[in-house]
Amino acid sequence: MQHAATATAPSTARLFEPLRLGGLRLAHRVVMAPLTRMRATVPGNAPNALNAEYYGQRASEGGLIITEATQVDQTGQGYPATPGIHSAEQVAGWRGVVDAVHRKGGLIVLQLWHVGRISHPSHQPGGAAPISPSAVRPTGKAYTATFGQEPFETPRALETAEIPGVVAMYRRGAENARAAGFDGVEIHGANGYLVDQFLRDRSNRRTDAYGGSIENRSRFAVEVAEAVSEVWGADRVGIRLSPFGVFNDMGDSDPVALFTHVVGEMSRIGLAYVHLIEPRQDEMYGADLGEWATRPVGSVFRAAFSGPVIAGGGYDGPGGAAAIAAGDADAIAFGRWFISNPDLPSRLRVNGRLNPYHRETFYGGGEKGYTDYPAWHVASGTPGK
Ligand SMILES: Cc1cc2nc3c(=O)[nH]c(=O)nc-3n(C[C@H](O)[C@H](O)[C@H](O)COP(=O)(O)O)c2cc1C
Repeated sequence: MQHAATATAPSTARLFEPLRLGGLRLAHRVVMAPLTRMRATVPGNAPNALNAEYYGQRASEGGLIITEATQVDQTGQGYPATPGIHSAEQVAGWRGVVDAVHRKGGLIVLQLWHVGRISHPSHQPGGAAPISPSAVRPTGKAYTATFGQEPFETPRALETAEIPGVVAMYRRGAENARAAGFDGVEIHGANGYLVDQFLRDRSNRRTDAYGGSIENRSRFAVEVAEAVSEVWGADRVGIRLSPFGVFNDMGDSDPVALFTHVVGEMSRIGLAYVHLIEPRQDEMYGADLGEWATRPVGSVFRAAFSGPVIAGGGYDGPGGAAAIAAGDADAIAFGRWFISNPDLPSRLRVNGRLNPYHRETFYGGGEKGYTDYPAWHVASGTPGK
């Protein structure tokens, strides 16, 4: 006789089917979302032994981890103690993280990041103004190098002739990620940072080949994807996009047309995957989009991409499995639940209880709220207890 609780428990089985993301072979579809934790070693912004322990705890056999956003250049830093991938010391630090994940049979890709206007002169060489496609100041506050907060300053609009140099920063980051032993890279094209600032017309007011039409606003993202793909092969490169996100004072007059085009271009380049953030309402990702806010983001854009789609934002295990069953995603990225549950895949497999997360320790600090969340011991046979 079947136990009643078992019969009615929502199934998470669809999360535990293997999946190919380009050249990456995943044993299951529970992906760790990129999560900024501001715990690199300062000065130098290099990953350290505590960071390696944190990622190692979250690795699983054949599971995919996407690292926290990692600046490709000093001009790309926007928060204190975020790691970089532009110095030898940083590459060596990341090597320690990669080794810890590989020792447990896990896969790890580096998220390549330039914050553009979401910076502050205290992070910039010579205290300069942050760079952006246009001199449009976002509302809100920047994080200073000393963990303070000050109103954003007006960024400096990039000259057309400077843009190849910025694309080259992503290329160098991709090369350094190879040297560190990563399995691939993800371009951070989401959440109002530099790639997104070029894409959307709320932040891009350019009148050259990088502004105006959807094709022009997509040019920077396409050039970055092509440059990074030359280093890695496109089948080891993904991109993260937040078509409906408003975080960092973002918006666009026609997000469906814009991101259908962008996703189509990434398909043409042959990227391993597209990673889409859901437009659900929460403190970071609000939306005023009518019907689009109520539809899974994958259902809007996946037809434009010939490869697999990762969806993220507000998922639990049964919700993620349902999205896969509905055909809206091929894998699910879990953010906050992965912060508080180092062994999240084993818990989701049995739909076990999850540790709650503590927001006050998300950013900065040491092991508290970072490496001290307890794993559930399989041997106890009592998930989540
Ligand atoms: C503490 C924290 C740090 C984050 N850092 C990043 C980041 O570095 N790169 C990124 O693309 N998204 C980042 N995000 C967004 C998450 O990847 C994810 O999309 C978001 O948390 C929603 O998913 P969830 O409901 O599973 O947490 C961050 C979110 C949180 C809560």
